[in-house]
Formats: sequence, C-alpha cells, structure tokens
Amino acid sequence: MIELKLLVLPGDGVGVEVIPAAVDVLEACAKKYSVSLQIHQDLVGGASIRAHGVSLPDSVLERAKGSDAVLLGCVGGAEWEGEPPSRRPERALLALRKELGLFANLRPVYAWPALEDSSPLKPSVIKGVDILFFRELTGGIYFAQPKERNNDRAVDTELYTRGEIERIARLAFQAARRRRGKLTSVDKSNILETSKLWRDVVTDVHKQYADVALDHRLVDSFAMQLMTTPASFDVVLTNNMFGDILTDEAAVIAGSLGMLPSASLGNGRALYEPVHGTAPDITGRGIANPIASIACIGMLFEHTLNLPAAAANVQQAIGSALRAGYRTADLQPTGKPASTQEMTDAILKALQAGR
Ligand code: IPM
Ligand code: MG
Repeated sequence: MIELKLLVLPGDGVGVEVIPAAVDVLEACAKKYSVSLQIHQDLVGGASIRAHGVSLPDSVLERAKGSDAVLLGCVGGAEWEGEPPSRRPERALLALRKELGLFANLRPVYAWPALEDSSPLKPSVIKGVDILFFRELTGGIYFAQPKERNNDRAVDTELYTRGEIERIARLAFQAARRRRGKLTSVDKSNILETSKLWRDVVTDVHKQYADVALDHRLVDSFAMQLMTTPASFDVVLTNNMFGDILTDEAAVIAGSLGMLPSASLGNGRALYEPVHGTAPDITGRGIANPIASIACIGMLFEHTLNLPAAAANVQQAIGSALRAGYRTADLQPTGKPASTQEMTDAILKALQAGR
C-alpha cells in the first residue's frame, strides 16, 4: 500500500470552503487506488496571523518539510492590506515556496468542451486548448535583493542565474516530450538583460532536447496570441513575474479562475494549490468553485503518487460533472446552478462510477 503524508493548509477566504471539498475527493480516490493517508491540517496566512501573530509558524514550515506534499488553499484578505510585508498573509506562501525549494510551478490550462460557452472568448478560439505553463517560482523579481522602499523611491530587482533557468527549462522540455513536443519560451529579451540570459540558456538546454520544437516569444505579443490563437501552444515556459500574469490571463480560456489547479515542484517536494485567490466577494456563502482544488488532487496523484490512472479518474470525474450541467456561480448563467457541495457531490459520484 502506498502511503501519503499530507499537510493540508486551507488558509483564508474561500480556501476553507474548497479545500475540504478537495480532501473529500482525495479520500474517495485514495480508497479506490489503495493509498493510505496521513493528513495533518493547520493554519496558514491570515488565519495564522490571527491565531499566532505570524503567517507561517516554524512548526508548520517544519511539518511541510517532513510531508510528502502540501495542499494549500489561498491566503490574504482586506484585513491585512497596508500591513508591512512581514505581517502579510502572502508572505507565508512565498516562504513556503522558497524554503521548500519549489522552483517549478506547473499550471495546466484546459478548455473543457462542456465550458466552451462559459468563456468570453469564441468557442472556435478556445476549442482544443491544452496548455501546460511552467512558471519559475523561487527566483526573479519576487525574491531578488535589493528591495527598497521609502517615501519617494522603491526598488525591486530582477535577477536570474544560469542554474535557475536551466533546471526549470529541463523540466519543461521533458514535459513537452511527453506531450505534443512543442515548447514556447516567453521573455522580454528585446529589453531585459535577465531575459537575454533566459533566451540563451533555454536555447542551450534545447540541444539536449532537439526532438522538441522550441520557439521564443516576447511577453507582450505572447499575451495577445494567448487570446487569439491559444490552441497553438503546448508547453509554455516563463519567469516568475510573467508567469503570474499570463496564467491569470489564461484562466479566461478555461472559463473561470476557479478552474485552474497548480503544482509547485522541486527537490522531491510538492505543494498543490488552486491558482485563484481568497475571493472575498463570495467567501462564506458556500458557492465557491471547488474544481481548481479538486483538480489539484489529480495533479497530486500524477506527480507525488505517480498514479496516472487515478489522476485521469479525477479529470474524467470533473468532465462528467460539467457535462451533466453542474455550474458554480462563476460558470453561470448556463447549466444547473450548483453550490460548492453540490458540485463536489457530482464529482464524487462520477469518481465512483469511473474506471
Ligand atoms: C499566485 C498568486 C501569488 C503570486 C500571490 C498571492 C503572492 O498571485 O500564486 O499566482 O503572485 O505568486
Ligand atoms: Mg497570481
């Protein structure tokens, strides 16, 4: 029997509504595929600041390091706006990524056939979209020093090393090889030195993956092509900042930010989290879309447990609930209005029925 030691951190806002839904699906799926679960749940982000005065207590970080994987909801909230960086919920997320060495953030963007009408883009544009973003997650402007701020001047630093670019490029090329054999690297090499290095390093790494078709795009024109010809992309590789922005943009293709899961990997560790945030406008109403978090369970079965059949089962179950017409508020006005619980139940039912 495979064992999974999982740390569950629902966090703030809708995190406490969608993560329990994902845990229900995990438990059902674990039973089916003979995985024994050891789950520990804790506070993170704003919830942890409220209880302990810090967004990520050392004990939680240590437990994350000792777990096979972390399942995280989302962090943040109006309560902490204007607080110094050290007292912001987001700090917990950045610290987890950095301390666990999770340098590769995988964000799949898939146009579910049942949701073709939920996107503001034309069905003819999004038909067949299946993109896997590789966002570099522990470098670049999010982390590099110096960072400075006074009343009249602020500094952030964009910095990348060859090694940081190489290791994520290799993972992206390997993924492209398993998929449709295309990799698009996105940078701003007409202006930024970091991007010139990025382009050179990706071109060098490509020599070991010559069977993959590589193409380089500038981020501004790529942002446009992502909306006009998204089906032409397979694996997209980019830095931390561009990846943050482009994956929110790509959510338009999936119909809602509530649809996108992510896996952050590196050094044998893994953290799974929905791409969406805390959604304060709908928090506490039981209507948040649980699909991004449930799809994270699929990614966990694939990447941490190496059980692709179970991952496919989760994916099929989501597809079947969508085909049956279930729609949370973010996906309406078409279909049957569904609460978080109703959507989860529909997916659980499909999961039991699936192979
Ligand atoms: C994301 C989020 C985070 C980021 C925030 C909450 C720090 O937007 O995961 O995309 O910018 O990385
Ligand atoms: Mg983001």
